[in-house]
Amino acid sequence: MTSLLYLGAALCFVYALRGLAHPTTSRRGLAAGIVGMLLAVATTFQLPVVQGHLPIIVAIAVGGVIGAFIAWRIAMTALPQLVAGFHSLVGLAAVMVAITAFYQPEVYGIADADGNPTLASLIEMGLGVVIGAMTFSGSLVAFSKLQGLVSGAPLVFVGQHLLNLVLAMLMVASLVMLAVHVEGVYFWSALALALILGVTLIVPIGGADMPVVVSMLNSYSGWAAAGIGFTLSNHLLIIVGALVGSSGAILSYIMCKGMNRPFLSVILGGFGQGDDSPATEGAQARNVKAGNADDAAFIMKNAARIIIVPGYGMAVAQAQHAVHEMAQALTQHGAHVRYAIHPVAGRMPGHMNVLLAEANVSYDDVLELDDINNDFASTDVAFVIGANDITNPAARNDTSSAIYGMPILNVDKAATTLFVKRSLGAGYAGIENELFFQEKTMMLFGDAKKMVEGIIKAL
Ligand code: TAP
Repeated sequence: MTSLLYLGAALCFVYALRGLAHPTTSRRGLAAGIVGMLLAVATTFQLPVVQGHLPIIVAIAVGGVIGAFIAWRIAMTALPQLVAGFHSLVGLAAVMVAITAFYQPEVYGIADADGNPTLASLIEMGLGVVIGAMTFSGSLVAFSKLQGLVSGAPLVFVGQHLLNLVLAMLMVASLVMLAVHVEGVYFWSALALALILGVTLIVPIGGADMPVVVSMLNSYSGWAAAGIGFTLSNHLLIIVGALVGSSGAILSYIMCKGMNRPFLSVILGGFGQGDDSPATEGAQARNVKAGNADDAAFIMKNAARIIIVPGYGMAVAQAQHAVHEMAQALTQHGAHVRYAIHPVAGRMPGHMNVLLAEANVSYDDVLELDDINNDFASTDVAFVIGANDITNPAARNDTSSAIYGMPILNVDKAATTLFVKRSLGAGYAGIENELFFQEKTMMLFGDAKKMVEGIIKAL
């Protein structure tokens, strides 16, 4: 019966992942995830091995209230650090279980005749503890960087990769000694080395690459859980750990592809100088064509085809509702209005889709890069709001640029390009955008929401 219920829960989780992959099915996916988790917890709860129900209920209630409160209060733009913070707890939980299993193997039914954990359990537990510890300390570093508690800039020093290699080798050696000698000193040295390695692996990674790292740590936390699932002989934990581990790894891959950066170069670090670097002095000295809300309204009122390109700034300004209202007004004026979504627009996968869905924009009007990029050439106005890097032609033309090779939205091919942003400041990658200075471009300087509200008024 337990196996069957666990199988049911596992199927719910698979369906949840599938559902969450698209906005139209994401609510159903979420519901499936909740049902699966309820089933999993309830099934585990009635296992004979689970003792002391009251403290568990209290722990679930306290954790649930704290989690719900945080989730309720969190701003959409702060989600990446929230996810990083929560992953650190998954890593910590894996470490705690491993410590308990090492000192009381009989409780978990993994003791040999001498009362020590069996060799197979030691290997599983060892992997669980080091991956869990790296996830814990690495996630804390990612959280601190994203929250601005420490600088988001990459911390690079001579011999960094050598240091990581030595630490990793010592950690593996500790695990081998643990399996052979079953002594606490090796267990704790592997744990300590993994904690240090979690920090040294993440500090060289810059703010721009942090979302990839968060997703990678998500993957690690899954593998740590799977490792602990073997220790506990819990099939569902193994399955769920593997689902989290593989989906996190795939997501990291998708993000790297969206930025056209090899995964290894992200992991080795050194790229990106933190959020929104100021414009270079050169940019300030050059001429740009600037307009106001009235100018923008006039241009768009006379346009037949308009593509809106949202980016991180729309999320910061929470301008999605105003943008939708503006699109509706333009549609009433007879324009054909659609939205173009870049795979790494914003700061997390699906960031723009979630915001537009929140503002009730029809999914049919929201198109991915590959489906809309050719249409810019036959478009009157590309309305870029709070986006920068994802439109930067340096990615197409400048082989020396850090973002060279990243696919971009071809907004420069439209007859007119309007840019809503507060300044000539660079985006996440810290690179100047040539488009701001082109003849066909008009800059609309100001906060995204205020500017769009002004345009609606003018319309
Ligand atoms: P960015 O290139 O970061 O540009 C956002 C722009 O928004 C900034 O230049 C800023 O200019 C403007 N802005 C900020 N607040 C604003 C406000 N209140 N009103 C109006 N404008 C505002 O964003 P993007 O084009 O969306 O590109 C995303 C970047 O993040 C890429 O470099 C991508 O590689 C990176 N990244 C994304 C992900 C995922 S999964 N999405 C993962 C890893 C990396 P001003 O300061 O002048 O206003």
